[in-house]
Amino acid sequence: MLDLDAEVAATQLAELTSRAAELAGDHPVRDILDIGAGTGTGTFALLRRFPEASVTAIDTSEEMLEHLRDSATRLDLADRIRPLRADLDEGWPGTGPADLVWASSSMHHMADPDRVLRDIHATLRPGGLLTVIEMERMPLFLPDDLGFGRPGTEARCHVLLDEARAEHLPHIGSDWPARLTGAGFTILESRVLTVDMASPLPEAAIRYAYATLSRIRSALADRLTPEDASTLDDLLADDGPRALRTRSDLRVHSTRSAWIATLR
Ligand SMILES: C[S@@+](CC[C@H](N)C(=O)[O-])C[C@H]1O[C@@H](n2cnc3c(N)ncnc32)[C@H](O)[C@@H]1O
Repeated sequence: MLDLDAEVAATQLAELTSRAAELAGDHPVRDILDIGAGTGTGTFALLRRFPEASVTAIDTSEEMLEHLRDSATRLDLADRIRPLRADLDEGWPGTGPADLVWASSSMHHMADPDRVLRDIHATLRPGGLLTVIEMERMPLFLPDDLGFGRPGTEARCHVLLDEARAEHLPHIGSDWPARLTGAGFTILESRVLTVDMASPLPEAAIRYAYATLSRIRSALADRLTPEDASTLDDLLADDGPRALRTRSDLRVHSTRSAWIATLR
């Protein structure tokens, strides 16, 4: 799902790395840290944008790092990436100083984001940049009325998702500008990255819809009404008249907030 997300949001991501390069100005960007790197969406976008740089890709999940390593080898970028397994909730790993720190959809996972932000602050070289990206809501794909089931399935799923996320991820939807400022950063740029795609969707976007809605289906298994569960099952079937793939009214709509900050 993360790789498909990267494909669907590639333009918005490229615009953001381009803005970070502008803001870096004369400061050479050589050492980059990707915090909660996942499968490497940010890592690879940054390596493309900063040809002199190498990236330390930090993640607590060995599975994510394994996937990232495989992609790096396939893209012939392995010599510019240092995968580093570390749980940032347990303290800051020995990374060495950085010119750019990238944290995409990862800060809200931290038990104590303010402490992690202070550690990032201590790690950045003067003139260095921190980019934080947060997606408050999962992307939307479906029309309100699917022609079967009760209208509003996706909207109801998002209400339940908000409840589930509030229980498990208390920092989601935080006031990140306030946290950045509190940790000693000055925000240079705030922007909203919007993806809006209408039918006919490209194949990657359709697979993204399958991946995201499957994840929602399993995350909400205990909360969905039987009717909405059955609607999602019909949509997620590989084939059949109600399958996602047969629909001509799918869309992708997602927004994320991004901030580029420097040391105050
Ligand atoms: C939603 S994914 C985002 C991945 C990637 N940055 C992206 O934008 O596609 C969040 C990542 O943060 C990692 N993560 C969560 N808590 C962490 C922690 N305490 N220390 C290090 N990584 C963590 C997860 O393993 C996961 O790969």
